[in-house]
Amino acid sequence: MQTFNGKTALITGASSGIGEQMARQLAAVGCNLILVARRTDRLDALARELQSVQVDVITADLADSHSPQAVFDQVLNLQRNVHVLINNAGFGFQQPMLNIPMVEQMGMVDVNVRSLLALTQLFAVPMAERGEGWILNVASVSAWFPIPGMATYAASKSFVLTLGRALHEEWKSAGITVTTLAPGGTRTEFSGKARDSLDPNLEKAMMPADSVAAAGLRGLVRGKPVVVPGWHYKALAAVVRLLPMSTVVRLAGAVMGRHR
Ligand SMILES: NC(=O)c1ccc[n+]([C@@H]2O[C@H](COP(=O)([O-])OP(=O)(O)OC[C@H]3O[C@@H](n4cnc5c(N)ncnc54)[C@H](OP(=O)(O)O)[C@@H]3O)[C@@H](O)[C@H]2O)c1
Repeated sequence: MQTFNGKTALITGASSGIGEQMARQLAAVGCNLILVARRTDRLDALARELQSVQVDVITADLADSHSPQAVFDQVLNLQRNVHVLINNAGFGFQQPMLNIPMVEQMGMVDVNVRSLLALTQLFAVPMAERGEGWILNVASVSAWFPIPGMATYAASKSFVLTLGRALHEEWKSAGITVTTLAPGGTRTEFSGKARDSLDPNLEKAMMPADSVAAAGLRGLVRGKPVVVPGWHYKALAAVVRLLPMSTVVRLAGAVMGRHR
């Protein structure tokens, strides 16, 4: 992590959960920060806490297609170079697709996929010019399998995983490390927003946000293409690759439950 001492990291979705923990851990090693999310009050409070490093706050709704360019332009105005980009903002609904209003459905794709892609491309250009950069994209273990009842979310995270794996290889020669973090269930505000209640067995398997954040940052420093925190989620990602896809989809629907 000392690699990031004196560098600047831009973190989307830094107002809670995994993104907030990454901000705290990067500040602890002397990495300056640019925090992005919609809840400015939360970002300002975090910035006040992390006074040992330079922290700037950018309020942005990443469901708005103009936001990535606006964020990039604000960073230029701040005259900051972004050495580390963490595309962490994201959300999902655990509901049958027909119950999700179209605007929410498309918003999920705009935040999880479209803004992540745009920010990756925008910030990679100056990184490539400097011949150095680190990009950490947050996917999910659900990237490995379709989930009935969480169809769009799982599909959006498959995009993030596939994109990241390709860019890891493509941008090696440009000096840019691309790592995809694929967490399983993590104790954050995510599940309260995704569903009304959580199966007690899934609740037990959840990991603390600080360990997930630490695993992601460690993997980024080590130049790993993909990081799956937790032995049980590593096993899950391995097992689903061995089973027939039809079985995996049926099981995923049964475990996640509420799609009928
Ligand atoms: N928790 C899990 O079980 C789990 C599992 C696998 C993957 N993940 C992934 O981990 C990432 C972080 O989620 P989390 O678990 O830490 O959940 P969280 O506590 O709900 O954090 C989500 C972050 O994303 C930001 N965000 C959401 N919509 C946004 C928008 N339209 N514009 C800008 N920022 C937005 C939120 O900020 P504002 O609301 O302030 O805008 C918040 O800071 C997500 O990509 C999620 O898909 C989570």
